[in-house]
Formats: sequence, structure tokens, C-alpha cells
Amino acid sequence: MILATCRETLPGENRVSFIPEGIPALSKLGLEVVLESGAGEAAGFPDQAYRDRGARLESRGETLRQAQILCQLHPPAPEDIAQLSPGAVVLSLLYPLTRLPLVADMAKRGLTVFALDLLPRISRAQSMDVLSSQSTVAGYRAVVLAASSLPRFFPMLMTPAGTIPPARVFVIGAGVAGLQAIATARRLGAIVEAHDVRPVAKEQVESLGARFVGLEKEAETGEDSSGYAKAQSEEFLRRQRELIAAQCQKADVVITTALIPGKPAPTLIAKEAVERMRPGSVIVDLAAEQGGNCELTEPGQTVVRCGVTLYGLLNPSSALAPQASLFYSKNLQAFLSLLMKDGTLQIKTEDPIFGQTLVCRAGEIVHEGVRKAIEASPAGQAG
Ligand code: NAI
Repeated sequence: MILATCRETLPGENRVSFIPEGIPALSKLGLEVVLESGAGEAAGFPDQAYRDRGARLESRGETLRQAQILCQLHPPAPEDIAQLSPGAVVLSLLYPLTRLPLVADMAKRGLTVFALDLLPRISRAQSMDVLSSQSTVAGYRAVVLAASSLPRFFPMLMTPAGTIPPARVFVIGAGVAGLQAIATARRLGAIVEAHDVRPVAKEQVESLGARFVGLEKEAETGEDSSGYAKAQSEEFLRRQRELIAAQCQKADVVITTALIPGKPAPTLIAKEAVERMRPGSVIVDLAAEQGGNCELTEPGQTVVRCGVTLYGLLNPSSALAPQASLFYSKNLQAFLSLLMKDGTLQIKTEDPIFGQTLVCRAGEIVHEGVRKAIEASPAGQAG
């Protein structure tokens, strides 16, 4: 079968789905790999490196036309969907509930579509967990960006010219990105404190040498059955914003990562909390894609408010494109290894890895939540 990928077209996106070193393992699965010429260039992988490992390079149109399985970071645009053969399989991050018209378009084209963001967070799926691999990169990136723009040292220094105290970093949201941010800030010598609504996060934060800062009633409210954070009551959020404002006032750097699946990011840092921070402090908002955790975040922009530099980072893992692509490529390889049997595709929907990620199958919208959302949408009701 032909496994294909094209250059990503989202502005600022440098990653690529497959790295050259990953091609031989894909060939062993019985896949012939075809890439759009230049697909890996922005990630530092020239066409020749792919050719040397047995891949074929084609024009974009030809790559799409030949693709039997298309793998991308971001879902294909409507003009690319129109060039895919009916029956082709598409794997990408999709966030289908936020892209209902695109999903309907892919179904109409007769495609089989997997949303990798819907992978269950179970041990068996860890090697294919694209959210975790890319969040790891994002957490690291947030801290090195903050360290390079903070006009202070991170570690404590004792020199003949004087003693410098360590920087203080406050991390909000101790999921995969937050834990990596904590670990990175600790390695750079900062004092780190972190906050989360999930009670289990406390032990994980402490195991990295940081202090956990929490509110009492979290044990009853923090987490849903799949381990994700739940949306909190207004009263809880008010108390939480007070706690966070006090922490921000002490911090040189604040990294925010708090997300709730399928919902806008909770606003946890109010404008007044930023006003109380020391001038020169830095906030890196990794929740910017979902609107941001800080009231003053401007997604995609770097702004200075009340003397505080505020990064509304979009697509932060793209800044480390070679290694972010390596992770993504390995995640895809793990998913495809389970999907391919004797050179053909076998979609076992009884396996939650496929059952939960499969959105469309040969033109049918099979994901119940997505189908119901499309039926309830204006386009669904018209159709
Ligand atoms: P995420 O990106 O959905 O959210 C980031 C963090 O923000 C989470 O820790 C969440 O609890 C926190 N958060 C949400 N609302 C908040 C609020 N109002 N205040 C403070 N913090 C808030 O989370 P991520 O990193 O994708 O992880 C989700 C879950 O999946 C976690 O429980 C994680 O441990 C688990 N996981 C399990 C894996 C496995 O294989 N077993 C692999 C990776 C993650």
C-alpha cells in the first residue's frame, strides 16, 4: 500500500509526519512511502535523505492522488481532500468536534479518517500518543523561551561579585506539558511551584522536586473517569484565581498549560494578577490555542503588558521541528504497526485504539459523538 505525506501548509508549521530514519521500518510493514518533494525541508530533512532510505518524492498533486494512507500533522484542506482517491485513509490530529464541516467533507469524499487526538490515554497506546509527545516538546520549549527572555539567571549563583538567588517558576497545569516544564526549569536551577486541579498531580509534581500548590476541595472535583480535568464551578475558579494571583506575584516566570478537552481554556490569570507581577517577568501561555489561561493573552502574539512579557504560543513544538517530527514519526509507526497485517489494513473497532479514533469509515461518520454533533449542526439539519 502507498503511504503518503505532503508538506504542511499551516503558517509557521515546520514539522513533517515522517523522518528519513523512519522509512525502513515503514517499508517492513509492506508500505511504499511517497512524500511531496520538499515535505521535510523545514524540519531539516532534505529530499535526498528520504530517497536514500527508499522513499519516492513526487509533486503535491501526484502524492495526494496516489495516497492510499495519508498521514499529516494537521488535517488536509478541502482542496487537498478533493484530490484524494475515495477510499483513502487519513491520519492526523483532527479535533473533529471543532471541525465539523471538514469532517462532513471528508466523509462525502468516501474517506476513512482517524483523529489521533482521540487516542485513549492507556498504557498500551503510549508509544502512539501524539498529544503526549508533542506536549513534551511544548513544555520544554516554553521554559527555554522564558529563560532566554527573562532578564535574570535561572540558577542560584555565588560569585565574588555577589550572590544571585534562583529564579522562581510557577507552572499551572501539571499534565504532560506542565511536568516537562517543571523538569526543565528544575534542570536550569529554578525554584519551581506548580498547581493543578487533579489531586494525582501532587505526587508527580513533588517527584520532580517542585512544590505543589493546591486548593482543599480538589479531591472531589478535579478529574473525570478518563483522567482528564473537569470544568470547575465559578466559585472554585474564583478561589483558584486568588491563589494563582498570589503565586504569580512571587514568580519570575509563569508557564500555563491548563486545558479541558473539548472546551475553551479556563481563564486562571486575571488582568489584575498580571498588574501585580514584577516588571520583567514572563508568562508563557501554552493554552493560547484554546484561548489562553491568562486574560491578557493574545494567541499567536508576544505582548508586553504592565512590564510583563506575555507569549501566546501557538504550535510551540514546531520550534523544535526535527525532534518533534521524530516523535510524531515514531507515534505514527506504532499506530500503523497495529493497523497493518500482512501488508493490508485491518481496522479492528473492538480495539479502543481504533474504536475511539475512527471518525469516518468509507464515507460513513462512525464516531457517535461527532455524528450527533454534525446532525445537530445547521449543515447537518439542512442535509
Ligand atoms: P491536558 O493537556 O488536557 O491539560 C493539562 C493540565 O491542565 C492537566 O493536568 C489538567 O488537569 C490541568 N487543568 C485543567 N483545568 C485546570 C484548572 N482549572 N486549573 C489547573 N489545572 C487545570 O492534559 P494532558 O497533559 O494531555 O494529560 C491528560 C491526562 O492524561 C492526565 O491525567 C495525564 O496524566 C494522563 N495521561 C496518561 C497517559 C497514559 O498513557 N496513561 C499518557 C499521557 C497522559
